[in-house]
Amino acid sequence: MTTNKYNTILITGGAGFIGSHVVRHMVKKYPEVRIVNLDKLTYAGNLENLRDIESEANYVFERVCITDVEATAEVFQRHKPDAVIHLAAESHVDRSIVSPLEFVHTNTIGTANLLNQFKNLWSDVQFQGKLFYQVSTDEVYGSLGPSGYFTEATKYDPRSPYSASKAAADHLVRAYYHTFGMPVVITNCSNNYGSYQFPEKLIPLIINNIRHRKPLPVYGDGSNVRDWLYVTDHVEAIDLVAHQGEIGETYNIGGNNEHQNITIVHTLCDLVDQKLGNAAGTSRALITYVTDRLGHDKRYAIDAAKIKADLGWSPSIDLEEGLSLTVDWYFENDDWLANVTSGAYKEYYKKMYKE
Ligand code: NAD
Ligand code: DAU
Repeated sequence: MTTNKYNTILITGGAGFIGSHVVRHMVKKYPEVRIVNLDKLTYAGNLENLRDIESEANYVFERVCITDVEATAEVFQRHKPDAVIHLAAESHVDRSIVSPLEFVHTNTIGTANLLNQFKNLWSDVQFQGKLFYQVSTDEVYGSLGPSGYFTEATKYDPRSPYSASKAAADHLVRAYYHTFGMPVVITNCSNNYGSYQFPEKLIPLIINNIRHRKPLPVYGDGSNVRDWLYVTDHVEAIDLVAHQGEIGETYNIGGNNEHQNITIVHTLCDLVDQKLGNAAGTSRALITYVTDRLGHDKRYAIDAAKIKADLGWSPSIDLEEGLSLTVDWYFENDDWLANVTSGAYKEYYKKMYKE
């Protein structure tokens, strides 16, 4: 059981997929803590994800870009966060292949700016009891062959512009720890899935396409392997690490749920057909093999023994339950899906904040 030790937690990227789950969890679990959600609201940021908690007294939203030096300095000075949980990023590998510089700008420069703001705020006063928490990815470790696992000791070997920009950010976080004594912690997590995930990522994209009877694009031969984790299990791990993680340490987080992409797609097809009472094979008929992603990493698999041994974390939702919950959520939240695919959710921000 975690207990609070902060007055103000600033969460970056809180309007995104994982960030909105983290914000909701923290706002509800720690009503005495001010939770500041700092987000630029890119295409991936959606305040509709937080409708249920946006009126809570301990929740504040700040629309700011993490690369904006003046605006972030002002927010840091005004809120004086004793903990930063940094999730804001450009997160989609395919987009990083099209626009690498955008990824370096946001993920690397943006992280450097936040580290600097945190240093400016606290280093002359006291770093004691403070935390800069970098939420990172298992993709920094590169790609595995058919056997073996990523551990915290695995050498960084990023292979896409996305993972390279995150790896560079992780290096900067460690540099601030060693050079300035900044209290930092890093987690590297495997593929998340669940509600509020933007339908460009494999699982929500497949669900959305099945729903609209559109082709289901499978890259290459579908044999690439990912290690899937239900998003609320990741959130529990983040809460634990933020409150009980050891300063300067890295923790790997994974689902122990390795599957080839084609298996995930088949499972989703069968699950939807079963839920809708379709004839067996109806949705599988939509599967379309397409040109492979450039530099497509073959396999990711996390060894999460350290976080289990040190902090007692392990995933609680298995893939069967998680996928069923996820399919149900997307089918029950047709408006959300329609809004994010049309871009209409941006209107919600304008209405809420009179932009
Ligand atoms: P996401 O794309 O759903 O959300 C990203 C959020 O960051 C959005 O709200 C967006 O508006 C915000 N953002 C982007 N650029 C910004 C900027 N310049 N300034 C302020 N806000 C900005 O991402 P996600 O999938 O929720 O991932 C969140 C974090 O977790 C990322 O750092 C990612 O690298 C990491 N991660 C993701 C996964 C995964 O499977 N999705 C796994 C491991 C780690
Ligand atoms: O491992 C953690 C990472 O997982 C996070 O750091 C990233 O932010 C997150 O996007 C995710 O990266 P992936 O590239 O693994 O996720 P994505 O959902 O894009 O793809 C999962 C697998 O499915 C991958 O092998 C590519 C394949 N794929 C993806 C899409 C979008 C397809 O076959 N077809 C598709 O249409």
